[in-house]
Amino acid sequence: MNILILGGGGREHALAWAVKQNPKCDRLFVAPGNAGIAMLAECADLDIMDGAAVVGFAEENAVDFVIVGPEAPLAAGVADSLRAAGILTFGPSAAAARLEASKAFTKEICDACGAPTAGYARFTDRAEAEAYIRARGAPIVVKADGLAAGKGVVVAMRVEEALDAVADMFGGEFGAAGAEVVIEEFMTGEEASLFVLCDGTEVLPVGTAQDHKRVGDGDTGPNTGGMGAYSPAPVLSDAILARTMEEIVRPTVAEMARRGTPFQGVLYVGLMIEGGRARLVEYNVRFGDPECQVLMLRLGAQALDLIQACAEGRLGAVRANWAEDHALTVVMAAAGYPGAYAKGSQIRGLEELPEDSSHMVFHAGTAKRDGTVIASGGRVLNVTARGATLAEARDRAYGMVDAIDWPGGFCRRDIGWRAL
Ligand code: AMP
Ligand code: GLY
Repeated sequence: MNILILGGGGREHALAWAVKQNPKCDRLFVAPGNAGIAMLAECADLDIMDGAAVVGFAEENAVDFVIVGPEAPLAAGVADSLRAAGILTFGPSAAAARLEASKAFTKEICDACGAPTAGYARFTDRAEAEAYIRARGAPIVVKADGLAAGKGVVVAMRVEEALDAVADMFGGEFGAAGAEVVIEEFMTGEEASLFVLCDGTEVLPVGTAQDHKRVGDGDTGPNTGGMGAYSPAPVLSDAILARTMEEIVRPTVAEMARRGTPFQGVLYVGLMIEGGRARLVEYNVRFGDPECQVLMLRLGAQALDLIQACAEGRLGAVRANWAEDHALTVVMAAAGYPGAYAKGSQIRGLEELPEDSSHMVFHAGTAKRDGTVIASGGRVLNVTARGATLAEARDRAYGMVDAIDWPGGFCRRDIGWRAL
């Protein structure tokens, strides 16, 4: 089958790498792709936010199956356009993508199906939001309703911080995403993520992971898109996992189906775990980045069979085969990230690294110039390894990091510390 993957980050490199190993895969296109993806797929220059353009490309190139990586095209209805054209697609409709695109919508679903989450209130009026914050006190969490590229959440330790966040959001800092604000109870505990394939009715967990959001060692400094991740997440024990499926995931999927907007794709379930029980922090409607990289290294070629069964509504008929293994990924970023950073620095030493079922450097923001790989984004490489233990996976990943010659980059040295 000919496959098109939409996206061009480390997540899409990992998806392409797994899909390509499956003998079912004939031609593989990725739009827009990056320098790493170009080594295993045909990169296409295509506006992935434009449903008609994606359908046109798929028809011209006899694409049988489209896998959508990031949330933006999903929220924009690209999966709807593809399905309307009769093209098999992995990823939710725009209506179901509201689970990520609107925090207020997710809260409404939790209320309707009884899923445990932080207590909250919704506001479209600044004065009312401020009065609520003063009455509740800190710590308190302020969230812009819509998609804000991960920057729309302020965990305020002081009342003034929460008031400033409300002022920014209603002041237009997040555009339309901030027209409504959700104010939540601050939850304590340990965070972890669960990834579940959903075909509208059936569900299949495909792994757990934990990431490191802060830029600096010891979880210090500003938030980023993620500086590293590992799978499985030891805090998500089998018992908590089973309870989370029953209390959160299945009720959500049933409620979405009941509303006539079934969820098809991967549900990224962000959880806060305390006292043997998980509460929902957020949903995303796509694989995490860099969490996908560790999941794909562990799943390998079967990922395509599972994702395809999901898109075809046959999840009840497939199973994931897990090795008792661990995977860990270290993000190498351009100096300055998540603030201003330079593009164009050269990266050497990648060719000499092992590339097999236990070692893989996924590219996030890279390009090629005169035959050498250069940095073209903030998060640039995802150095990923697998092992019988998490410590072995970590040592292999950092062994590769140390062999990469990139003076313009940096990484955290403590990925996995909590679990180790
Ligand atoms: P979100 O985009 O909703 O996942 O929020 C980003 C991050 O903010 C989460 O990963 C948590 O670390 C933190 N966060 C969000 N909501 C809460 C909450 N109610 N209590 C504590 N921390 C939260
Ligand atoms: N790593 C966090 C995310 O993908 O949203």
